Amino acid sequence: MRYSYDTVALAFDFIDTIFFKLGKNNPRKAIYNLIPNENINILDVCTGTGSNIIKLARKKALVNITGIDNSQGMLNVGLKKILKHKLSNVKLLLQDATNMMLEAKSFDYAIISLILHEMEDDVAYKTLQNTHKALKDDGKLIVFEFIVPESRKFLPNFAFKLVKKVENKELFPAFLAKDKEEYFKINGFKIDKAHKFQYTIIYELSKI
Ligand SMILES: C[S@@+](CC[C@H](N)C(=O)[O-])C[C@H]1O[C@@H](n2cnc3c(N)ncnc32)[C@H](O)[C@@H]1O
Repeated sequence: MRYSYDTVALAFDFIDTIFFKLGKNNPRKAIYNLIPNENINILDVCTGTGSNIIKLARKKALVNITGIDNSQGMLNVGLKKILKHKLSNVKLLLQDATNMMLEAKSFDYAIISLILHEMEDDVAYKTLQNTHKALKDDGKLIVFEFIVPESRKFLPNFAFKLVKKVENKELFPAFLAKDKEEYFKINGFKIDKAHKFQYTIIYELSKI
């Protein structure tokens, strides 16, 4: 990682809107649509400013959400949104994904969004294994990540180029090239479905 999340925290939501929320068929909306409005526990691993969970907590009042992140700066932006919308069904914890202190088998859904591509393999594997422990046996994992654009359209390729510029020159291409079936399998998950967007993908996974 070439920058600290504490320093980009205030700009994160603006960048997030430009890259992931424009247009009707956007991946943030797709993640939102995958989670039912039921009395379930959701874990957002490396939640950042809460891009996946604030709307969920607002519009799907039955869900209980826990977000963890190791950047207090990112969490502070999320906390402001929680206060603004007076949300009582979401809590944010300062925790490292490699050392999560959460009750085993207590979550129905977990989300890992836009972070695995930045992690060294040992960190990513610990993160996935801790998430596996925290999920119930029939729990579902949703992973949101980058892919190389398949179309030759200018905008997605331009956006992907900008992403590539700021990402780690070794970890990012190495992550893109990984056999994802194998990557998740060695950490105890199987891919049930994949939904492709212009330069991102959402995997729906379950425990093996
Ligand atoms: C690109 S942001 C993505 C945030 C959010 N998941 C999203 O989709 O907007 C990556 C986040 O992962 C957090 N992070 C990175 N390594 C972490 C670790 N080992 N444990 C907890 N959080 C971590 C960073 O602080 C940052 O907030």
